[in-house]
Amino acid sequence: MRLQWYTNMARRCSQTCRQYLLHLAHDNVDFRLPEIKALLALRDKAFNPAEDFVERSPFWRLRGVSEDDLRSIMARTVCAKSAFELWGHGETAQDLKKSLLEYPKESMAPFLKIKSTYKINVYTFNKTLVFQERIKKIDALDFLPFEGKVHLKDPDHIFCLLEDYGSDPNNIPEEPFHVYFGRWIADGQRELIRSHSVKKRHFIGNTSMDAGLSFIMANHAKVKAEDIVYDPFVGTGSLLVACSHFGAYVCGTDIDYNTIHGIGKASRKNQKWRGPDENIRANLRQYGTERQYVDVLVSDASKPVWRTGSLFDVIITDPPYGIRESTRRTGSHKGLTKPPEDFCGESHIPVSMAYHLSDIFTDLLHFAAHYLVMGGRIVYWLPIYRPEYSEDMVPQHPCLTLISNCEQVLSSHTSRRLVTMEKTKEPEESDTLAQQVESRFSPYQGLNSFREKYFSGITKRGSKEQSKEAANGVE
Ligand SMILES: C[S@@+](CC[C@H](N)C(=O)[O-])C[C@H]1O[C@@H](n2cnc3c(N)ncnc32)[C@H](O)[C@@H]1O
Repeated sequence: MRLQWYTNMARRCSQTCRQYLLHLAHDNVDFRLPEIKALLALRDKAFNPAEDFVERSPFWRLRGVSEDDLRSIMARTVCAKSAFELWGHGETAQDLKKSLLEYPKESMAPFLKIKSTYKINVYTFNKTLVFQERIKKIDALDFLPFEGKVHLKDPDHIFCLLEDYGSDPNNIPEEPFHVYFGRWIADGQRELIRSHSVKKRHFIGNTSMDAGLSFIMANHAKVKAEDIVYDPFVGTGSLLVACSHFGAYVCGTDIDYNTIHGIGKASRKNQKWRGPDENIRANLRQYGTERQYVDVLVSDASKPVWRTGSLFDVIITDPPYGIRESTRRTGSHKGLTKPPEDFCGESHIPVSMAYHLSDIFTDLLHFAAHYLVMGGRIVYWLPIYRPEYSEDMVPQHPCLTLISNCEQVLSSHTSRRLVTMEKTKEPEESDTLAQQVESRFSPYQGLNSFREKYFSGITKRGSKEQSKEAANGVE
């Protein structure tokens, strides 16, 4: 009886104490932790890293999760490359051997059976090993009780030795700083970055968001199947493409008639006018998610057309910053400003007036507070003039809790921050617009003040860096 109790306890402990290893891509480093946290939150799980967790490392050890949790993260993530059940790790080969010998044999046994096939991969971060060096490292693992046969093409189980040589390419050590060994569980969705590249997309514009960042935004937003997702500044719908891939129903608005109707001048080189069927719906069709398309409307985000109520599970957007075009909204003939020169709505120019960045963010958060479901998320980009940035500049709202705020550096003095907020309170009478417009909005007040600073820096630095930033997708 007592023996049975101990056996059960030991089994339970080996399951709950089990550690997993995430191997992360070394780009978009700032966006990785909020992505993994959001994907865990979708499974009601907290992020529980090992005590020596280093956010910028390409390897994270996780506890308190199951293999199913890991599989569901890997089915969504574009920040993590692969996940492993960790069997051992250490600072040296000897430490690794000791750690592997301590790993419960009964946990290894199902994967080492005589009838099963396997292969061992060697992955090195910040160092390239020649073939013979890899073989030597695999041979050094011969103390593991593998009983099956090696099958390189299609093995039943894949194991991996992962070595971390630090992140300084000019100072690569002879021996790794840390080594890990584990059973491969699944790969992440990095392939989506290639398959959904805007270069091969049917309908694109000058400010189409790149595929990797669009998927990261959808993950930060915790978009899930059957959610209703809304992009108030939809443009060519790149964010809707990513959200529809995760099974959400998507809709959006844009002030630009030509963009919504897919007509007018093309953004592609060697093409003067947009061809037939160049529109957001056709983009979704290209990726097999047309059934997720609700609709897009020509509408000014500063004057919402929606009936009141919690209509959206997620609001995800890339507002106009006034870098490549001035921000605008519909207005009356009073206070009329001429539309910008690059405005291509030849026959459909609405009467437009300046739309200050501070107003865009006030309206956006106010809208989110009223139209998101409780617990729903808003994810948007905030342009930053780096010399003046401080955390309290990030717009706040009494009904929205800040979840994450990650920087994408664009130049020495400009960046944009991906802000994620969650609705945690229904708006009350007292949450008036006036209250929400706090002093922290001041950097974005005044006609296109961010734009002026941005260009003042660019004039000094010349056009080379400017075109680099444009390529990075800043409007
Ligand atoms: C940065 S772009 C969005 C790009 C989009 N994420 C994409 O992938 O194509 C901003 C969009 O906001 C639109 N816009 C500007 N002012 C607006 C307003 N007041 N209401 C709605 N849309 C507006 C612009 O026409 C532009 O398409």
